[in-house]
Amino acid sequence: MQRAAIAIIDLGGQYCHMIGRRLRDIGVSSEILPPSVRAGEFEGFAGIILSGGPQSVYESDAPSIDRGILDLDLPLLGICYGHQLLAHLLGADVRASSAEYGHAVLQLRQERGEDALFAATPSSQAVWMSHADRVESLPGGFEILAETSSCAIAAFGNPQRRVYGVQFHPEVAHTLYGIRLLNNFARKICGVHAHEHVKDRVENLLSDIRKKAASRPVFFFVSGGVDSTVAFSLAARALPRNQLLGVYVDTGLMRKGETQELRSLLDEAGLGNRLRIRDESSLFLGALQGIFEPEEKRTIIGKLFVDVQHRAMSELGIGGEWLLGQGTIYPDTVESGGAGKATALIKTHHNRCAEVRELIEQGKVIEPLSEFYKDEVRQVGAELGLPKSLTERWPFPGPGLAIRCLCVDGTRPKPIEDAGIDCGSDYRAVSVPVRSVGVQGDGRTYRGVAAVQGPLDYGRLASIGSELCNKSQTFNRVVAYLAGAANELTSGRVTPAPLSKERIALLREADHIVRVTMEERGLAASVWQFPVILVPVSFAGGESIVLRPVNSQDGMTASFARLPESILDSIAGEIADLPGIDAVFLDITGKPPATIEWE
Ligand code: XMP
Repeated sequence: MQRAAIAIIDLGGQYCHMIGRRLRDIGVSSEILPPSVRAGEFEGFAGIILSGGPQSVYESDAPSIDRGILDLDLPLLGICYGHQLLAHLLGADVRASSAEYGHAVLQLRQERGEDALFAATPSSQAVWMSHADRVESLPGGFEILAETSSCAIAAFGNPQRRVYGVQFHPEVAHTLYGIRLLNNFARKICGVHAHEHVKDRVENLLSDIRKKAASRPVFFFVSGGVDSTVAFSLAARALPRNQLLGVYVDTGLMRKGETQELRSLLDEAGLGNRLRIRDESSLFLGALQGIFEPEEKRTIIGKLFVDVQHRAMSELGIGGEWLLGQGTIYPDTVESGGAGKATALIKTHHNRCAEVRELIEQGKVIEPLSEFYKDEVRQVGAELGLPKSLTERWPFPGPGLAIRCLCVDGTRPKPIEDAGIDCGSDYRAVSVPVRSVGVQGDGRTYRGVAAVQGPLDYGRLASIGSELCNKSQTFNRVVAYLAGAANELTSGRVTPAPLSKERIALLREADHIVRVTMEERGLAASVWQFPVILVPVSFAGGESIVLRPVNSQDGMTASFARLPESILDSIAGEIADLPGIDAVFLDITGKPPATIEWE
C-alpha cells in the first residue's frame, strides 16, 4: 500500500489503467484495486476513483463495490460506469437511454467552474463520452454540476461529502480539461501533495530487461513499427550481442517498400546488423485463404508469428531456456480483454493471441513497454536517441493489411439501401451491408456501416456521423463519399470477396498513394495515423477504398482528421483512377464509437 495515493477500483473499463497514467503524469501515485476490495483496506489512501466498465448496473452480474466504501470519510469520484454505480448505490435511477459516443459538449451549471472539481475550467468544454445508460435522478443531497444536450446529469456532486460522479471520461486525451479535473480531484479534494518524478526511466527499463532475461537468449520480433523498434533497441542496449536475436517477418501483408525502408531505418539507428529478415508471405497469405471474420484473421496471424519463432529457433539451433521479446504496449493488452476480469475484448492484438498468452503464463515473454502508451514509447525512443523517422512513424498494426482488407463471405451481392434516416436537406444516408469493429460503452461492437453523400462540410459531417451512431443500434461507423463512379450510392452493392494476393496488392497501391502524397505535401506529421481500407463495395465492377486519417495521442480515443480539401481531393482522385477502384470514401467516425482499424 502507498501513502497519499489514490485508489482506483477497476470495474472493467477500457481506460481504467489510463486513470493511473494521468495521475502519474501530474505527480500523483495510484494503485489499481479489484472490485472485491473491502472498505477496511483503504488505509493510507487519500481518495478513491471508480473506473468505467462495459456493463449496466442493473445486470445481475454487474461489478459492484463494498457499500461500506460509501461511508468512509474519503473523497470518491465515479467515472462513467463508476458514476452510474455511485448513483445506483445511493438510491438514484440509472437507465438505458440515448447513447453518446465520442465528442460531446459539457455545460457547467455554475459559471466558469466554481465547484472544486471543475475549478479553473470553462463553463462550456469538450468531453469524450462512451455510454448508453445514464443517471436519471439525483441521489439525496447531491446537485447537478454539468449537463450535455442529451445527458441532464453528466456530472453530479455532494461537495460536503466530497463525493462526485462524471459521465464522461476525464482520463482520455480527447477530454480537453480532463487532466485539470483529475488534478482538482487529487489535490483540491483529496489533498494529495506528493510528487513522483519519473527518473532514470531508460536505466530502469534496461535493468528490468537484464533481470528478467538473466542468461537466457531473447528472440525478438521487430515489425518496423515504433513499439517493437523501441523495445528492441532497449534489449539491444541491455543484452550482449549473443543473447539477442531480432527477426523481422515479411508477412506479405506489409506496406509497399516496408521491408527495405525498415532495413535502412534500423541501419540508421545502428541496429541493422542485429536483425534477420524472413520472407514468410506464402505462409501467411496461405493460412488466411477462406477466412472472413476479423477475429479469426487476428488469431491465425498471432499463432503464425509464434510458429515462425519456433521454426526460426530450431533452424538456428537455439534450444533450452529462451524468451520471446515483443513490443507490446498497454492498449494491446486492454483491447485484447487481458487487463482484468471485467474488461471486454475489443479485438485480439496479434501479440495477445492464445499461444502468446500461454508463453506469458510460462514466464517466457519479455515486453519492456507493456505498461506504456504510444506517446510514452515515443518519448522513450527519443531518450534512446532513435531518429524521428522511426519514433514518429504512423503506427502500423502487426496483422498488417489483412485487417484493412475487408472480406465478405457468400455467393450473392447485397444491395446498398437508403438508411431511412433524415440527415438534413443536402445529405443522404445509406446502409452498407458490411460490418466493422467498434468500441461502445467500453464493450466491443461489430456493426454496420452508414455512408453519406453530400457537401464536404467537416462540421456537419462530424455531427451526422455522431448522430447516426448515437441514435441507431445498426451503425458504429459512418463514411462520406468523396470520389469515383458512384453518382447514386444506392446503385452500389457489396460483392462477396475473399482475401487474396491481388486484393492486398490493390490495397497496397492505394496505401502508397496516401503515404507519398502526405509526405510530399509535408503533412505526414499532421495526422496520428492514416489507415487505408479496401471494402468490396462495387459500383462498376470494382471495389472501394476508405481513407481513415485520425488524430490521437495514444490510440485509445481518436477523432477523424480534417485534412485540407485540396489534399483529400488529390488523394481520392488518384486512388479513384486505380484500375479496380470504383469509389473513395472518408471515415468520419471517432473512437468511440468506431475503432481506428476496421477489424
Ligand atoms: P484500434 O483499431 O483498436 O487501434 O482503435 C488502436 C491502435 O492499435 C493498433 N492496432 C494494433 N497494433 N497489433 C498491433 O501491433 C494489433 O493486432 C493491432 N490492432 C490494432 C492500430 O493500428 C491503432 O494504432
